[in-house]
Amino acid sequence: MIGGSEVATDNVLEIKNLHTYFYTDDGVVKAVDGVDVELKRGSTLGIVGESGSGKSVTSLSVMGLLTGTKGKIAEGEILLDGKDIVSLSKEERRKIRGNKISMIFQEPMTSLNPVMKIGDQIVECVLQHEKISKKEAYEKAEKMLTMTGVPRVHHMMKEYPFQLSGGQRQRVMIAMALVCKPEILIADEPTTALDVTIQAQILDLMNQLKKETGTSILFITHDLGVVAEICDDVAVMYCGRVVEKGDVKSIFYNPSHPYTRGLLASIPRVGDAGKELQSIPGNVPNPKYMPEGCKFAPRCPYAKEKCRKEEPGFFRMPEEGHISRCWMCENSTASENDGQKGGV
Ligand SMILES: Nc1ncnc2c1ncn2[C@@H]1O[C@H](COP(=O)(O)OP(=O)(O)O)[C@@H](O)[C@H]1O
Ligand SMILES: [Mg+2]
Repeated sequence: MIGGSEVATDNVLEIKNLHTYFYTDDGVVKAVDGVDVELKRGSTLGIVGESGSGKSVTSLSVMGLLTGTKGKIAEGEILLDGKDIVSLSKEERRKIRGNKISMIFQEPMTSLNPVMKIGDQIVECVLQHEKISKKEAYEKAEKMLTMTGVPRVHHMMKEYPFQLSGGQRQRVMIAMALVCKPEILIADEPTTALDVTIQAQILDLMNQLKKETGTSILFITHDLGVVAEICDDVAVMYCGRVVEKGDVKSIFYNPSHPYTRGLLASIPRVGDAGKELQSIPGNVPNPKYMPEGCKFAPRCPYAKEKCRKEEPGFFRMPEEGHISRCWMCENSTASENDGQKGGV
């Protein structure tokens, strides 16, 4: 490289060494236990992993939505535009939720008001953020809803959530989330409840809106197939940890962690009809009985004695930014990993 100086990437969000624990009556549940991820400005980061790996707790930690649960950020930083937001007051966190970070969930009905017309709900979002007239807000709401590709927008503005299909409700949620031009959109399994055709349409829509609005997206899913459609970078989570991280090409063409490979083998592909998909044998361990060593070792076909005893740190893989928490990768780029004793 000419000059040789390293250009710092512009991360809109950085989660550093995040530990989020639930202090329940029968013990501490370490739902997120040392997560580091970076969301580059204008890009989409996928967080993927089976149910129970700590994806939603990570997003709730970013949103500041742990109140009302027994959960607490025990350690770590969440940097928004370089500024830590963990220690901010509830009021300041609420403002960030309104202005800078929006979230859409799997089930839009939990966030839509069942007794309020769609149009009024979007207008309310607009008016919370902008000092414009009600008429202008209505026009803005209608324009945003049109962008999401729903038919008969004029009519839908006057309808109630129960009158809409699941896919339409998810589009309304996206309109509500994006109408305030957030810097970051967190989407937690936004298409999981939808059938495949509608799912594909919603992913197209998110890709298109990302281009038009420049919003950075944190996309959470249990489905690596969905990740391929929408993400630039991927963090694979297991048992509250990131086990592999890299750009989408590295993860799909050179997956190095046996867990990632297991997830990839369980994606349905065209031509697979009739074939049985491989799912990863065994279950995610109960957080109260976490295995020693690598948390995936009890399910891993390659696990050795060392894996069961000692948890690996991250090893660098040959591709830029690709790292993996597996002892098998210890010598993958020997010169870099030599003497690191399981950590980068
Ligand atoms: N409110 C809660 N109280 C106690 N434990 C919780 C709570 N929410 C989540 N957990 C635990 O945290 C872990 C991670 O959960 P979650 O982030 O929802 O997983 P994912 O979204 O990846 O499916 C699970 O073991 C879950 O049981
Ligand atoms: Mg979840």
